[in-house]
Amino acid sequence: MHAVVLVGGFGTRLRPLTYSIPKPLLPVAHTSMLERLMNSLARGGVTHAVLALGFKPEPFMAAFPKDMCGSVQLSYAVEDTPLDTAGAIGFAARTAGISETFVVANGDVLTDLDIASLISFHRQHGAEGTISLTPVSDPSQYGIVETDENGRVLRFVEKPQPGMTTSNFASAGTYVLEPSALVRMPGDQKLSIERVVFPQMVADQSLFAMWSNDYWIDAGRPDTFIEANVHVSKRSAQATDAPIHPTATVSASAVIIDSVIGENATVLDGAQIRHSVLLPGAQIGQGAVVIDSLVMGKVGANSQVTNSIIGSTGVVGDNEVCNNASVPAHDPAQVPEKSPEKSPE
Ligand code: GDD
Ligand code: MG
Repeated sequence: MHAVVLVGGFGTRLRPLTYSIPKPLLPVAHTSMLERLMNSLARGGVTHAVLALGFKPEPFMAAFPKDMCGSVQLSYAVEDTPLDTAGAIGFAARTAGISETFVVANGDVLTDLDIASLISFHRQHGAEGTISLTPVSDPSQYGIVETDENGRVLRFVEKPQPGMTTSNFASAGTYVLEPSALVRMPGDQKLSIERVVFPQMVADQSLFAMWSNDYWIDAGRPDTFIEANVHVSKRSAQATDAPIHPTATVSASAVIIDSVIGENATVLDGAQIRHSVLLPGAQIGQGAVVIDSLVMGKVGANSQVTNSIIGSTGVVGDNEVCNNASVPAHDPAQVPEKSPEKSPE
């Protein structure tokens, strides 16, 4: 079974971390989101995956030098300009020569969903496409799906405004598609599967959806990225998922609560890390307090960092207070963006 894995977005909501590492390569309990996703696809029978790439393709190729991720054989489709979700699927599926039923997965989703059961549901219903659904408490952040009692999709609304739908079943960002669906996705221009292709399939009554209560999280936002890290490190019995990486240096007088401390990170005496993620190489000075934050760079002694994201080149000086901040605010490698036009996330 082939899969198209969408990993070409800019990771806007996780900036400035994504200035240096593309979102799917960021670690969740020390293993990249993409590796975790790929393992789950492999368990469901996926043997080949084409990575639909755009923004920063090189780090993906460097991460998998033998073009293998576990047992999955990788190939790459690199877009010249962002094609959005359906454009990317059309382009990647053609690049990989996909001609049979295939799986599509958003690259920032962590789930225990049994993909094999989604595939058999799809076949039983003779569907053109089948979406995996998960219940959510905040429908406005997702693609929301209404179905009939047989699982046929009656409506797909991407990021609904309040009052637009009463459903709280979100598209979980994993689909099974027939190759015939590619006719709807030429792959030569920007096209959204959520806003254009799914509504067309709904009109043709060929789209189905399967609900599951399995663990699921889209780790693409700061709050969910922290939650995914904390959750996976707490519930996993595997030593490699433990909250503190064995190469991290954490002072015995530091307080670490509901947090993940990455490879080679340092936490000096008396520092407190609460509900936060320290990414590989992060440095936290003596007595610093880090709460609800993501840190890749340096936090000075006795500083307070709350609800902030500190990128790889970010530095919070000694005795500073940093609330709701992104440091640095702009990509140091780029000239500041001129156009406020919406870019893929
Ligand atoms: N190749 C490529 N090209 N990939 C892209 C592009 C593009 O132009 N734009 C976005 N992507 C990738 C992102 O890298 C990500 O893996 C995936 O497409 C989905 O984009 P997100 O930016 O993460 O979307 P979202 O989280 O707001 O919403 C999507 O996921 C939800 C579930 O997590 C939608 O599919 C929702 O309908 C869904 O509920
Ligand atoms: Mg997402």
